[in-house]
Amino acid sequence: MSEIDDIKSRLDVVEIVSEKVRLQRAGRNYKANCPFHNEKTPSFIVDPGRQSWRCFGSCGIGGDVFSFVMKTENMEFSDALRMLAHRTGVELRGYKKNESRDSYFEINKIALDFYKDSLMTDEAIVARNYLKSRGVNQQSIEDFDLGYSPRVRDSLKSHLLFHEVDLEKAVECGLINRLDDGNTRDFFWGRLMFPIFDRSGRPAGFGARSLDDSMPKYINTSATTVFDKRNTLYGFHKAREAIRDADLGVIVEGYMDVIAAHEYGYKNVVASMGTALTAEQVRQLKNLAKTFVLALDQDAAGQEATLRSLESAWQIFGDSSRRSQDPLFAGNPTKINVVSLPEGKDPDDFIRTHGSEWEKVVRNALPLMEYLIPVVSDRFDINSPGGKGRVVESLSPIFRLLDPFDTEKYVGMLAEQLSATSETVNAALKQVPRRPGSQNTSIDVKPEFENSNQVENTYKLDEYTLSLMLNRPELREVAIQIDPECFIRTEDREIYLKWLEFDSDESLFDALDVVLKERFSNIQKYSIVPSTNTDILIDFNSCANRLERRRLQQYRSDLIQSQDIESPPSISLQSELGNLDKKILETYTSDS
Ligand code: GTP
Ligand code: MN
Repeated sequence: MSEIDDIKSRLDVVEIVSEKVRLQRAGRNYKANCPFHNEKTPSFIVDPGRQSWRCFGSCGIGGDVFSFVMKTENMEFSDALRMLAHRTGVELRGYKKNESRDSYFEINKIALDFYKDSLMTDEAIVARNYLKSRGVNQQSIEDFDLGYSPRVRDSLKSHLLFHEVDLEKAVECGLINRLDDGNTRDFFWGRLMFPIFDRSGRPAGFGARSLDDSMPKYINTSATTVFDKRNTLYGFHKAREAIRDADLGVIVEGYMDVIAAHEYGYKNVVASMGTALTAEQVRQLKNLAKTFVLALDQDAAGQEATLRSLESAWQIFGDSSRRSQDPLFAGNPTKINVVSLPEGKDPDDFIRTHGSEWEKVVRNALPLMEYLIPVVSDRFDINSPGGKGRVVESLSPIFRLLDPFDTEKYVGMLAEQLSATSETVNAALKQVPRRPGSQNTSIDVKPEFENSNQVENTYKLDEYTLSLMLNRPELREVAIQIDPECFIRTEDREIYLKWLEFDSDESLFDALDVVLKERFSNIQKYSIVPSTNTDILIDFNSCANRLERRRLQQYRSDLIQSQDIESPPSISLQSELGNLDKKILETYTSDS
């Protein structure tokens, strides 16, 4: 038995759920008001037989005991796994390696508390006054754990030593610098401190603002094992739920922008921390909402780095649009809109002076292309020789990602902007050479012989499907359309979701929890039938269909179970069942 199965066997979903909500018996199941959204009539059911749960209300999600803990505690898979392992007394073998990561977070936490306490000292009056002058209230100071690093040389170091922290570890955390002469020094001093949390809310690093005009204005923890600016979004763990709820996320640049927004109740705001939006950042966001609004710095908007980041953002956001967000209703493509604030103001100034107008600004954000065409055109002198060509060239990577109707529309818009005809713009676009891309790096895997028709056991189907996609990069296009809920077990869902996030096996493997790494390797080794590419595709399609069918059937039976037995089926239930039946039937017809 795997460690995960061992943990599950010692847990009861009914017990775990009842710690969060009051369950009522309903036949062989239990019912409750859904803990994930507000409701008056219970639409949340727990099935002890299958050890699963599902909400039929507005969340429309379900899963097992792991996913329940992840949702309620707002945890990543690895943290839920460790918590539940601890609770059940199951020892996780592979965890030794991660011990130092844990201690980094612990050291950062000690530093965070130290900086917080220091904000109350006499010396920190400058910092407190500064915050006041910026309009940051006490609540925000607490919510964001703002602090102050004293000017006194090595005050943090002394504090860490007092707490018996291994200084070498503190150096590895980026809190302490090692100088050429071998001595160590506090890295941060005399600055306002902004702790930066990872997506699970653990302190991973710090940003620090100078309180006078000294340069640089901000410094931040250099890259460490637990902190990498490129895959971190400031405020993410506080904004995640709000982004989901609003189905809208706003991406700003600065710490102060996030703080102002949250202070005014706009909690769906995160910051890229000054860098152009990275692919890793986009990956964290893409499944949370359908629309994202970027508050771009006007000066940066037309620049190459920004354009590139927008290109990759679009590519990744666009990717997720092919899967439906809701299991039963097809999703619309992710939209990227851009706000431009008046008079070169940043969101912080704007929100603090205009308050609720922020909502209007966000609502009126322009679709990315409509925003970019004039901005990029302004960057080049379009009347100089080659000027128009440069504009086309700059925009061409993004043009390539548009669907045909949008292409037509925006070619027209660009043509107008450049005082050219659509034909000329189209011709110019065709002439731009493609940058050597990272696409089509398919590896040839030689799987072992075995008969694929033996995939009968429930979990075997999940594993077999996963093994096919892990071994056959060319299946990606089909595989991304699978609904994650098709995988029954959280651990398989996790592997699938991580696989969606990363396009190289290596970075995928790195990102997996140790326990999942083991599972991943086992699945990858799963013997699969050798066949031609067409055979593999047919085989895979049939797996995907079976997964989908199983999901729909399960959903259907849960739905019936969740109904009040006393009252006759409502019209809406009947029509929903009808819909489900139609979809179930479709999985057969597309199977042949
Ligand atoms: P204020 O100037 O205090 O309003 O801060 P801000 O948060 O609005 O910052 P700004 O818009 O100037 O820059 C956006 C973000 O870029 C900041 O929050 C930092 O994360 C980052 N940043 C800005 N300047 C620097 C710098 O000099 N060094 C580093 N490492 N990061 C910077
Ligand atoms: Mn600012």
